[in-house]
Amino acid sequence: MSLLLNRKVFGNPSNAGNLLTKEAAMALFSSWVLNPKLQVHMLQVAHLMKTWAAEKEGLNETEQWKWELSGLLHDADWDQWPDKHCIKIIEHLESLNIDPEVMHAIASHGPNHFGVDPENQMDKMLFAFDELSGLIHAYSILRPGGYEGMDVKGVKKRLKEKSFAANVSREEIQDAANRAGLELDTLIAFIVSKQSAHQ
Ligand SMILES: [Fe+2]
Ligand SMILES: [Fe+2]
Repeated sequence: MSLLLNRKVFGNPSNAGNLLTKEAAMALFSSWVLNPKLQVHMLQVAHLMKTWAAEKEGLNETEQWKWELSGLLHDADWDQWPDKHCIKIIEHLESLNIDPEVMHAIASHGPNHFGVDPENQMDKMLFAFDELSGLIHAYSILRPGGYEGMDVKGVKKRLKEKSFAANVSREEIQDAANRAGLELDTLIAFIVSKQSAHQ
């Protein structure tokens, strides 16, 4: 099954700045995503995107919401339309005249699957957070204390252990960190601290 999007341009530049309201985004989220585990993943990625935009990029509230929205909707169609993953949500957001940057971030959250490279920092952070956030969450579920006492070293051990979250590509995680220009340790520490505070 190919998920290649076979295009690089999304939306219309004249819609820059057009974002869904929080209410509209949450309504779409809850009607499209029925799987509670996937909901948790998307909410976690949304939270990471928002806090990174605020704390590391120093962006204003509108920009923070754009980052959060991209995280919140990046897998919106994965639950009910896995063979149209990315295509369906992008076409829907295009029909709503949403800011092209949101669609581009969603389109580039898996360059090896969708054939679209992350370009700006928002794209790169979504790609960097996606798989690593899920792997760290899986690790928290296996630990008796959950996130409590979790450290970078423990996460790196799990990364080296091929049988742990075997479907998560380690090469992709490293590639995503490289593209974002970040050390893996920095990314892991950020995810551990933010996800533990927001579950
Ligand atoms: Fe995805
Ligand atoms: Fe995802």
